[in-house]
Amino acid sequence: MADLDWLIYGGTVILPTGAAHVDLGVRNGIIECLLAPGAGGSARRRYDASGRFVIPGGVDAHVHFENPSMGTETAHSFRLGTEAALLGGTTTIIDFAFQSEGESLLEAIERRRRDAAKQVACDFSLHGCLTSPDERSINEIPEAASLGIPSVKFFMTYRQEGWAVSDDQLLTAMRHLAEAGGIALVHAENDELLRTGIEKCIARGDTGPGGHARSRPPLIEAEAIQRAVLYARESGCDLFIVHVSSRAGVEAVEMGQGRGSVVLAETCPHYLAFDDSVLDGPEGHRYVMSPPLRPAGNPGALWRALASGVLSSVGSDDAAYFEKFKVRGKNDFRKIANGVPGVQIRMPLVFSDGVLKRRISIERFVEICCASPAKTFGLYPRKGVIDVGSDADIVVIDAHATWQPDLAHMQTNIEYTLYEHVQITGIPTDVWRRGELVVQNGVLDVVPGSGEFVARHRTERHSTIDDVAF
Ligand code: URP
Ligand code: ZN
Ligand code: ZN
Repeated sequence: MADLDWLIYGGTVILPTGAAHVDLGVRNGIIECLLAPGAGGSARRRYDASGRFVIPGGVDAHVHFENPSMGTETAHSFRLGTEAALLGGTTTIIDFAFQSEGESLLEAIERRRRDAAKQVACDFSLHGCLTSPDERSINEIPEAASLGIPSVKFFMTYRQEGWAVSDDQLLTAMRHLAEAGGIALVHAENDELLRTGIEKCIARGDTGPGGHARSRPPLIEAEAIQRAVLYARESGCDLFIVHVSSRAGVEAVEMGQGRGSVVLAETCPHYLAFDDSVLDGPEGHRYVMSPPLRPAGNPGALWRALASGVLSSVGSDDAAYFEKFKVRGKNDFRKIANGVPGVQIRMPLVFSDGVLKRRISIERFVEICCASPAKTFGLYPRKGVIDVGSDADIVVIDAHATWQPDLAHMQTNIEYTLYEHVQITGIPTDVWRRGELVVQNGVLDVVPGSGEFVARHRTERHSTIDDVAF
């Protein structure tokens, strides 16, 4: 038999069954075999992972690279964002195909796919994003699913951006998506309540970054989640709530789970790392995103929900903006571009603050950062798992190494990082993407455009129409 391309030996490998001492044989970009420690196998290259964890490449199902928004565009290009992803241990990202003026769902997907393919360093897919769910676009949902894109995002707010859909549009689209075996991602905030909340804050002079958070308290998120859950029940559509920020949001998700419905949800690194006290600091504008950061105690509730399974994954919601698009709203939060970077910090932060601080196990870390997003969005078992036949997307983590995520150590073009005062322990040192060593000892070595589009399969539909409730 021909030599293996790689033998990765000596590490503690996190398999679906738990941590195990096995060696990995890689050939032609695929994990070819799991071997007993030291069993050998002749390989062209060997990697000694002794004393370190070996996990599947991360899957970040929520990023926004070069995405037009807020009168500008997010700062991370597909190239930079996917390089940052690899350095942070993520080997597959899913971005979005927002419709632009007059564009149908499929046209938006084609355009974004072309733009991404030229530049991406890691593998990628796209979610459709229906901001104008006209008949043509709705009718294209089955074809998008056949092309490997069985997920569509909807915004319940951002009316001024032209992204919000009405309740009727959301419910109608979810019915079609359910027929196609797809899953709806929903940004859940009550648009009317938050608009009146903004007016009230501005009227009383609460106009700084903290006012942004006070204008949209947790009720605004929790109410919208409950509404989305009801539409999911009524339509039989699988539902994924993006960026859950609050304890009330978690409770709304939990209430929606069961009863024949698939209701899944993620949170994001920034909600786990910070509370709203940072908004009153001199750089508060940099920490503005929607939904906003919440009061002290909230990160603990999110960690508990990740540990218990109510929240199933962590997505970065990477939406980086140059300082000028943040600081312009320092005294009028309505002008702050909403969104923060996060694609590189996602896995190191969850490992450091989650696993090493004993909030979650290493197995749960792999589930929420790799396996679960892959399962939810139809990438599993090609991605998100170390198993025979899976893509050889492999990450080695040194649990003792420390990392200061200051600007000098981040792959970014913006002028700041939110995490420079956060000490990270446990970093991805080496990363393989489909069998190619693209990060070696923390140094990137990858050709832009060498990432591949990954066609996703339809999620195995579990949701049923809840005819008891209706
Ligand atoms: O403020 C945020 N989260 N910006 C990114 C776009 C979104 O809503 O996901
Ligand atoms: Zn959103
Ligand atoms: Zn987002």
